[in-house]
Amino acid sequence: MPPKNLPTIWNAPPHTIAKIEMLRAYLVAWFQILGRSRRGQDLLYVDGFAGPGEYSNYPTGSPLGALSAAKQALELTGSQWIAGKIHCAFIEADIDRINHLVQKIESVEHGSNIETHWYRDEFTSGLQKVMAEVPRPFTAQHPLFVFIDPFGATGVPFSIVKQLLSSPCSEVLLNLDADGIGRIFHAGEHAAHEQNLNAIFDGDEWKTLLNTNDPSPVLHRKVLQLYKAKLRSIPKVQYVFAFEMRTSAYALNYYLVFASQHPLGLEKMKEAMRKIDQSGNYCFSDAKVVQNSLFRFDEPQQHSLDLYNHFRAKRATYDELRDHALNESPFPNPKSMLRDLEVKRNLIEEVKSKDSRRRKGTFNEEKLIYVKFR
Ligand SMILES: C[S@@+](CC[C@H](N)C(=O)[O-])C[C@H]1O[C@@H](n2cnc3c(N)ncnc32)[C@H](O)[C@@H]1O
Repeated sequence: MPPKNLPTIWNAPPHTIAKIEMLRAYLVAWFQILGRSRRGQDLLYVDGFAGPGEYSNYPTGSPLGALSAAKQALELTGSQWIAGKIHCAFIEADIDRINHLVQKIESVEHGSNIETHWYRDEFTSGLQKVMAEVPRPFTAQHPLFVFIDPFGATGVPFSIVKQLLSSPCSEVLLNLDADGIGRIFHAGEHAAHEQNLNAIFDGDEWKTLLNTNDPSPVLHRKVLQLYKAKLRSIPKVQYVFAFEMRTSAYALNYYLVFASQHPLGLEKMKEAMRKIDQSGNYCFSDAKVVQNSLFRFDEPQQHSLDLYNHFRAKRATYDELRDHALNESPFPNPKSMLRDLEVKRNLIEEVKSKDSRRRKGTFNEEKLIYVKFR
């Protein structure tokens, strides 16, 4: 449920803190990789639903997390930094929250390489202002990362997400409130469902997919599957993954959906998720199947048979295996699943490698030519 009548700052539940830590861990990697490779280009981070910058029980909201990631990346990169400036743009509709956020931002020293922009505005109109102020990530190759973290299901038309992801070096991390979308669907005309769902999904495919008799978990997964399919239909957006965040094994909170044109982005996002793995107070699920399956990052056997079934009796290159692992498993690469299939299950017929002394169970992407499955 979108929280109603929350004060300017409020208490963060554990999964919110985990989300911010994950974002921060990812951005440290993102800023560093691009800072070392994008000579002269500015990097832009946009926080579309920025919040007040802190919680009553936690000092760091997503904007402060992003700023500290930027600072850390600049320190870690040192003289290898060849990109231009880091721009961090924060959009927040609530006047008290944006004022609180601005105070927080101004109380911290960021250094001359980080430029902050803030807008008291709705996401969609605020974004137009960001585009006018820092245009090149939207029109040229300059890198763009957009965090979209609304309360509830509305306020993020898919047409905007599509526009963002059509920039050549852009990525989006989005909090998809499948439960809220389900409630709009059930409420029908009372919730202007046609208009809202058409905007969320950029079309009316939801009409044939969603069913009022669907139990909630099924409805949530269908919402996610449709959303992912829409993201994957954007040209060049080949890497899409969703993590389900729950406060307990059974209660859905939301899906965190990541979309990128580049495998390295999804690889690093999974590493960031792994770093802040299940603390006991919240959990990740891969949100892939209808069952409520939680996963552990150290149990490849849960997913290796999926990989095998996909490639059964076929040959696959490392890139094909990596793309499957990225999009269909929680792992950043296929190696642990391949090891399980070769060593424990004997389901690999041949591994063709440039390394004639390859050890069984090892899969070096530089040397691998193909894997043939039984
Ligand atoms: C989930 S909170 C954001 C939390 C923040 N991203 C964090 O991780 O610390 C959502 C925020 O969006 C703001 N908001 C609500 N509707 C908005 C809109 N249409 N555009 C921009 N901000 C909005 C709310 O006031 C609230 O502060």
